[in-house]
Amino acid sequence: MKPIKVSLVSGSPKPLSSSSEALLESLRIKLSSHFLVNLFNLNKTSMPEESLASIMESDILVLSFPLYVDGIPSHLLNCLFEMEKHLKRYAGTDMTVYAIVNCGFFEGQQALPALEMVKNWCVKAGVSWGQGLGVGGGGMIQNLASVPDGQGPKKNFSMALDQLASNINAGSEGENLYISPNFPKIGYKIGAEMGWRHQIKMNGLSKRDLNRRLV
Ligand SMILES: Cc1cc2nc3c(=O)[nH]c(=O)nc-3n(C[C@H](O)[C@H](O)[C@H](O)COP(=O)(O)O)c2cc1C
Repeated sequence: MKPIKVSLVSGSPKPLSSSSEALLESLRIKLSSHFLVNLFNLNKTSMPEESLASIMESDILVLSFPLYVDGIPSHLLNCLFEMEKHLKRYAGTDMTVYAIVNCGFFEGQQALPALEMVKNWCVKAGVSWGQGLGVGGGGMIQNLASVPDGQGPKKNFSMALDQLASNINAGSEGENLYISPNFPKIGYKIGAEMGWRHQIKMNGLSKRDLNRRLV
C-alpha cells in the first residue's frame, strides 16, 4: 500500500526562526508514524519546480503562515495561484488542506478571514478543506522552544495542535479552532512592546520612530 504523503508548508517570509515553522515542527511529532512527511519553506514569490511537484503529489497539505493585514502574505498568495494552476491541470487530485494561521494579536480569532480565504481557495482549486487553526500571540511562540509540550504558556497551543493532528491522522474534517496563549494578555503586550523598543534601537532609530507616520 502507498504511504499517505503529507506536506507541511511554512509560508512565513522569514528564512529562519519563524513561528509558522515552529508550529509545524510541534505538529509533526503528533502525526501518525505511518505518514510520509516533508517540510517545505515557501518564502519567495514563486515556487521552486521540485517543491511544486512534490507538494502536488501530497494527500494532505498543511499550510502554516503568519497573518498579514488580516490576510495571506502576498508571496504565499502567489504560490497558491501557482498550485491552483497545477491542480486544475491535473483535475481529480484527492488532497485535503489544513491551515494554521498565527498572528501578532493575542486573539487567534483575528485569523478568521485568512482561514476563510484558504477555504475559498480550496473550492477554486478543487481540493478538500479539512480544518483551520487561528493562533493568537504568535510573537511568543519562538520563546517557548524549551517549554515542554502541553505545559505552562504552551498548554493551549499544544491542545489545539493535538486536535488538529487527530483530525489529520483520521483524515477527517473539523470545526476551526481559535486560541490565545495560556498567559496573561497584559504580560504578552508588555513583552511585545519591550521587543519592539529593542528592535528599533538595534536598527539605529529611537522609540519615537515607532509612532512615526511614513506618509
Ligand atoms: C506586514 C505585516 C503585517 C501584519 N499584519 C498583522 C495583522 O493584520 N494582524 C495580526 O494580528 N498580526 C499581524 N502581523 C504580525 C504577524 O502575523 C506575527 O508577527 C506573526 O507571529 C509572524 O509569524 P512568523 O514568525 O511565522 O512569520 C503582521 C506582520 C507583518 C510583518
